[in-house]
Amino acid sequence: MSRRALLQYLELLNQSGIRQLFITPSQMPDPDDKGALLDSLAQQYADCQKCPLSTGRIKLVYGEGNPDARLMLIGEGPGDNENQTGRPFVGAAGQLLDKMLAAIQIKRAEIYITNIVKCRPPGNRNPSNEERLACMPYLVEQINIIRPRIILVMGLVAAQSILGSTETLSNLRQRQHSFMGIPVFVSYHPAALLRNPNWKRPAWEDLQALQKVYESMI
Ligand code: URA
Repeated sequence: MSRRALLQYLELLNQSGIRQLFITPSQMPDPDDKGALLDSLAQQYADCQKCPLSTGRIKLVYGEGNPDARLMLIGEGPGDNENQTGRPFVGAAGQLLDKMLAAIQIKRAEIYITNIVKCRPPGNRNPSNEERLACMPYLVEQINIIRPRIILVMGLVAAQSILGSTETLSNLRQRQHSFMGIPVFVSYHPAALLRNPNWKRPAWEDLQALQKVYESMI
């Protein structure tokens, strides 16, 4: 990890209230058992009370997929279907996401999918800064365990949260970014594409750029 990426990571931990890190060999993920580790963390956090989103929670949506994924997808936060099932991207946006992945020959089972916040914001409002920061250590931990080779961030809220930016989505897409030393692609959220079909063409360009890099890693 570069010095810049390490500082960015420590700053994020600091902003979310983490002041001390204890890394002992027994706490380090066993690289052969990442799936079990992710499952046990999901169970540990299931009753998280770190922010007000816990009050509307039916199920915490930790994330799911391949613990050895080369590609991690990050959305904004669970909607109603996700809150009911505990699984990310299973509603209408999830169905479109599945089609988008199929169009670039990526199977859902080969990647890992999660969100910036793990509990549903009421009425699907944007998560507040406090809610995003409260949840950030979970995402940082997931990234540290999975160590994906690329990250696709979907939508403005997720992109701004990850990149610490206030730029528009059209400024952020089609550019190289990095988070925790990992290359980051930015594109539209599938729910935004359902609302505004004019964005499907630029989203397709983003997906093709992602596919090129993804395939070059095989
Ligand atoms: N929208 C998201 O950002 N995440 C989900 O899991 C579902 C819809």
